[in-house]
Amino acid sequence: ASVQTCEPSPHSKSSNEKGEYANLKWDELGFGLIPTDYMYVMNCSKEENSFSKGTLVQFGNMEMNPSSGILNYGQGLLEGLKAYRREDERIMLFRPELNALRMKIGAERMCMPPPTVDQFVDAIKQTVYANKRWVPPPGKGSMYIRPLLLGSGPGLGVGPASEYTFITYASPVGNYHKGTLNLVVEEKLYRATPGGTGGIKAIINYASIYKAITEAKAKGFSDVLFLDAKTGKNLEEASTSNIFVVKGNVISTPATDGTILPGITRKSVIEVAHVLGYQIEERSVPVEELFDADEVFLTGTAVVINPVNSVTYQGKRIEYKKGADTVGHNIYEMLTGIQTGRVEDKMGWTLEL
Ligand code: COI
Repeated sequence: ASVQTCEPSPHSKSSNEKGEYANLKWDELGFGLIPTDYMYVMNCSKEENSFSKGTLVQFGNMEMNPSSGILNYGQGLLEGLKAYRREDERIMLFRPELNALRMKIGAERMCMPPPTVDQFVDAIKQTVYANKRWVPPPGKGSMYIRPLLLGSGPGLGVGPASEYTFITYASPVGNYHKGTLNLVVEEKLYRATPGGTGGIKAIINYASIYKAITEAKAKGFSDVLFLDAKTGKNLEEASTSNIFVVKGNVISTPATDGTILPGITRKSVIEVAHVLGYQIEERSVPVEELFDADEVFLTGTAVVINPVNSVTYQGKRIEYKKGADTVGHNIYEMLTGIQTGRVEDKMGWTLEL
């Protein structure tokens, strides 16, 4: 891949001084791309097998050979993490090293060289810093950061690419889902299979679920819940998020056994739930448990912690508790409190830019 270059300085004039914001209607943020000023690009040839120093370039289109590994055979990974601006204007990242480690595991599965944890975190910091006028004001949303690891070198035969490109871009975002969440259990199409790529953030995992999402939305649902491909009996996850099912004081979530994405929000929710004294179970969760659950919520970087209003399974609609007096809400308050600085970060999860 080759990219346009520009003055690659995160300290240039267009990276802004404290308090200076881009001209945007901050109250109207959703989850759509708002192009920002810079992206970070770093390359690696197969012979070197490691990334050399990257650089910031203007955000925009990039050139890629039509025969590149990502365009032809989908050799690529994505990540997602967020930066939050606090009341005191400090900008904090949330557990970025976990995204770096997850990319490393994914890269091994997809036969790609990963950036080191330090290279990854440095790229994130530089990207956010260079675009900091686009980090929403406190309480108005966050900056979503999207790292990509791509097989970018040319080649026709099926096999690992000859060159790799790591890119990080960012966009200010608000809520992922609009309105209440009404889900439907998908009984024909599966997201992942044992031995497949469901447990990593492979780019190929996403377009393959569009059909299920599109059909569900056409019927008025907000999202689908996938079942395991092996038995069709257990809950796996929604299209972009992990699922938690609450019954009394017990919170259950499907165990990450290779077909389920090991979400960083999922992991953080489990850790917060322990601190708050809930019982947490990571196990197979039969779809029938939806029938007598009190609450269901989805978790993910993009969706944060999102209460589910209803799930429809085999034509039966089940409704759940939502709002202030719920387990999901208590966990949401603590987790988003840590992320945004409302709650002291005793976990050491936040990293200042
Ligand atoms: C995330 O939550 O960060 C995701 O990657 C989900 C999706 C927007 C692809």
